[in-house]
Amino acid sequence: MIQHILHITHVSKHFGGNVAVSDVSFSVDEKEIFGLIGPNGAGKTTLFNCMTGFFPVTSGDIIFDSKKINTLRPDQICRLGMVRTWQRVKPLGSLTVLENVMIGAFSITNATGEANIMAMEQLHAVGLSDYATKPAGSLPIGLKKKLELARVLASRPKMLLLDEICGGLNHTETDSILAIIRAVRNSGTTIVFIEHDMKAVTSICDRIVVLNSGEKLAEGTPEEITTNPAVIAAYLGGGHHA
Ligand SMILES: Nc1ncnc2c1ncn2[C@@H]1O[C@H](COP(=O)(O)OP(=O)(O)OP(=O)(O)O)[C@@H](O)[C@H]1O
Ligand SMILES: [Mg+2]
Repeated sequence: MIQHILHITHVSKHFGGNVAVSDVSFSVDEKEIFGLIGPNGAGKTTLFNCMTGFFPVTSGDIIFDSKKINTLRPDQICRLGMVRTWQRVKPLGSLTVLENVMIGAFSITNATGEANIMAMEQLHAVGLSDYATKPAGSLPIGLKKKLELARVLASRPKMLLLDEICGGLNHTETDSILAIIRAVRNSGTTIVFIEHDMKAVTSICDRIVVLNSGEKLAEGTPEEITTNPAVIAAYLGGGHHA
């Protein structure tokens, strides 16, 4: 039986007269890698902000792990097991790589020793063990993205929301991030993946939702999405994406 871990039901988000997300509904299965794509300004990041409690929804409901979460605070949602990365990664540059990941671990433990061990495990998982004592600000962008992954993984999430984790990376760096994401999913974590790089999206996602001007334009497998005429017209045919 398919187990849904997330239900987005008729979610809208207005900023004054600007409708950023408009009546969007979809469900994500447990252990799925689920893609959220669409043109710049389509509402992808706004939906993440609503899911993680940074913005209240204007209407609709968000159900995670059988609980309605759209009235909860970000820290409460994080403790329920849903965590997100940021489109612009901003590690605390003067802290070490290890300390940045320990901040993630502190969301589930108060013990420094335990947080240290959990953080080192995640640095190992993303291949950053050798950088543990370096200032986070000294890392190049490709490694900052891995640090961002280690930070969120340290809270041992049930669901990981990735906002353009491959943005600004070259092919080798992207492949290395995709390998980590696959391993995370194989260990039992569900993933929602916002990304403009269609090669990355189609190679890793089980299913995809396309947003356009805040509305759901299509939902389906990578093959269904890449051959959908409405998606090609609104997004894939366009050429230039950030
Ligand atoms: N805090 C905010 N206040 C007002 N308007 C906002 C805010 N955040 C987003 N918006 C608006 O909501 C719409 C959707 O923006 P959003 O950032 O969600 O798009 P996106 O799909 O993530 O785009 P991109 O691919 O460029 O990251 C845009 O019109 C944007 O200007
Ligand atoms: Mg965005």
